[in-house]
Amino acid sequence: MSGDFTTRKEIHDVYQKRASIYELAVYGCYLLGFPIGRYRRLAVKELAPRAGDTVVEIGCGTGMNFPLLQAEVGPTGKIIGVDISEAMLKRAKKRINDAGWNNVDLALSSAADYSFPDGVDGIIATGVLTYEPDYDKVIKRGARALAPGRRWVVFDYKMPSGWSRHLVPLFVWIFRSFGISIALFERTPWQSIKKHLRNAKIEEFYFGLIFIASGEAP
Ligand SMILES: C[S@@+](CC[C@H](N)C(=O)[O-])C[C@H]1O[C@@H](n2cnc3c(N)ncnc32)[C@H](O)[C@@H]1O
Repeated sequence: MSGDFTTRKEIHDVYQKRASIYELAVYGCYLLGFPIGRYRRLAVKELAPRAGDTVVEIGCGTGMNFPLLQAEVGPTGKIIGVDISEAMLKRAKKRINDAGWNNVDLALSSAADYSFPDGVDGIIATGVLTYEPDYDKVIKRGARALAPGRRWVVFDYKMPSGWSRHLVPLFVWIFRSFGISIALFERTPWQSIKKHLRNAKIEEFYFGLIFIASGEAP
């Protein structure tokens, strides 16, 4: 154990333990003025999915983005949810069954081990890639699998450049039980989006602690 929640095993174990309270914690974010639903909607808008598309969600967790993705890809499209935690995927499966969706596949895998389908129409990861030590390779492999012109979107944490970096220890303290550590804020998936995709767009939110980065495959 690194003690800093930076290995896959540590993060896997955290989510195995916390799956039952994950969604409650997400709704608790609103008490901190952290409008996570708004960021989800913005991320899906950046993905620009179309009816009939196949979209991969890396680190889909309990499937909180699925309704937003379903609304765009429709019944002729397909969603593939990938996650490292069996407990989170069990909840995603329940969401799928409850909604009666038959166009969602789930894959138990780390982001690093997952093989993207060739010619996929979009890839999204919300609150996941800073947990993945090999995020740069994941973004690169995803970029190569995307159909030309289609998009990779990442919504995650970043170290702010100004005064608000002093808020990071407080944020970490609040969310530590979900494996959030200062080390995650030092990871830079938005730079990987810039490196491996074209027309990259990076926007910051919530005092600069959050970013949404997107780019398109050549
Ligand atoms: C903060 S939750 C986000 C879940 C979902 N994307 C959402 O927006 O509600 C992080 C999820 O990423 C998964 N995860 C963490 N590290 C991962 C990795 N290296 N590969 C795949 N999934 C990972 C966790 O199991 C957990 O379900």
